[in-house]
Amino acid sequence: MIPSGELIQLVSPKGKRYTMILNAEEELHTHDGLIPLARICDMDFGQAVATHLGREYLVLKPTLYDLLKNVQRKTQIIYPKDIGYILLKLGIVPGGEVLEAGSGSGSLTMALAWYSGPQGCVHSFERREEFVDLCARNLERVGLRDRVSFYSRDIGEGFGLSDIPAGFIDVRTPWDYVDQLGRALQNGAPAGFLLPTMNQVERLLRALEDSCFTDPEVLEILVRPYKPVADRLRPEDRMVAHTGYLIFCRVMK
Ligand SMILES: C[S@@+](CC[C@H](N)C(=O)[O-])C[C@H]1O[C@@H](n2cnc3c(N)ncnc32)[C@H](O)[C@@H]1O
Repeated sequence: MIPSGELIQLVSPKGKRYTMILNAEEELHTHDGLIPLARICDMDFGQAVATHLGREYLVLKPTLYDLLKNVQRKTQIIYPKDIGYILLKLGIVPGGEVLEAGSGSGSLTMALAWYSGPQGCVHSFERREEFVDLCARNLERVGLRDRVSFYSRDIGEGFGLSDIPAGFIDVRTPWDYVDQLGRALQNGAPAGFLLPTMNQVERLLRALEDSCFTDPEVLEILVRPYKPVADRLRPEDRMVAHTGYLIFCRVMK
């Protein structure tokens, strides 16, 4: 049985995915017909529900990866391949606290909120009100809004926080905010940045050299997908060749 309020994903015969919080009083309208969602409450994950036209949709429990693929975006976002490594490097754990800027569309915010858990707290800073709203809506849709405190302001003014155990900055000119970040983080805390061009990475590294940050690491993550055909196993023709460079370091005050 799948209770109302649970996150579900319905997959059409053509592979189209619908991700939502189950509300037994609603219906899903698809190109294959209508599904009264109450019927899903009587099912288990891994079963199929039929539309009124008899087309079968698979009922799945979405993973965080599925939710990230579904983020409504109006900014550049951080991709799952990068997010996985960011979570490990920042040491995100249930009940933990972390700060980030900017919130943007909320792709990273969602992952931080997911892994920080119900007892955790994500402090998310964003200077444009429209993106605070977008990020909050994306989190609301998957039931994670309560785990995030939003600060609608420019981080040039400082974070107004101290002793935070980890931080991540995804803004265009992070070198302008290195001192503010150092003040907000606890000594020894991991910090990370994402930048799309090498020129920006160079500029950030110079700023880090003159700051309280140490132990820098620069890397990028490439994922090479393969066609899953046993008789003709080979890479896909196309891949995402570049998203951004990741930079990590530690606070040493
Ligand atoms: C690339 S987007 C962030 C995307 C986000 N990490 C995600 O995964 O969806 C960069 C965001 O940083 C915000 N931003 C840029 N400079 C800022 C600043 N000084 N203070 C706060 N937010 C800032 C922008 O408004 C924009 O929404």
